Order: sequence, then C-alpha cells, then structure tokens
Amino acid sequence: MNAQRHFQIQVTNRQQAFSVPEGELLLHAMEKACQQAIQVGCRGGGCGLCKIKVLEGAFHTKRMSKAHINEHEAEAGFALACRVFPESDLVIESDYFNDLSTQQTA
Ligand code: FES
Repeated sequence: MNAQRHFQIQVTNRQQAFSVPEGELLLHAMEKACQQAIQVGCRGGGCGLCKIKVLEGAFHTKRMSKAHINEHEAEAGFALACRVFPESDLVIESDYFNDLSTQQTA
C-alpha cells in the first residue's frame, strides 16, 4: 500500500490552513480544499496574483517568470503558489501581489 504523504500549509496572514498531497501544486490543492487563503489567477505562472512568501519549510518550483519573482525574491522565499510543490509542512504568507497586504480598506 502506498500511503500518500500530506503536508500541512499554514497561511499566517489569513489564519487559514490546508493540506497538500505530496507531488501536488500548492495552489491546486488549496482550491480542492475549498480554501481562499491565496489569490487565484491564471494558475499557470503568468499573472503573479498567487505570489506568496515561504517563511518555513522546504519546497521546489516549476520555472517562474522573473517578471514576478526575481532572483533576490526567490532567495528570500518568494514564489508563485501555482508553481510550488511543497516538500515539507510550510508556513507561508499570501497577498504579495502588488503588495496588497499593506493596503487598507476603510
Ligand atoms: S495564478 Fe497566475 S501566476 Fe499563479
């Protein structure tokens, strides 16, 4: 029997959590779990809407456009959730597209 591993993803700024089966894309798994912790756009690495910062944990990514994630950002843990495969439990922050996290609505 092959028991598939699952990784727990904590989204600190949204105070939400969901699990991702090993080998599955982070954003895809979030949508399957009916969560809205990360903004969803093109699902293909083109729009940058799903930009996150990984605070803790291991992951690898498919190729990401430097227009959305430059080298310095990649080194700092920024990634596009639609291109991220978790390799361990992760602690992340979402809402980095155009720095929406700092915008306040009255
Ligand atoms: S959803 Fe568009 S880049 Fe991830």
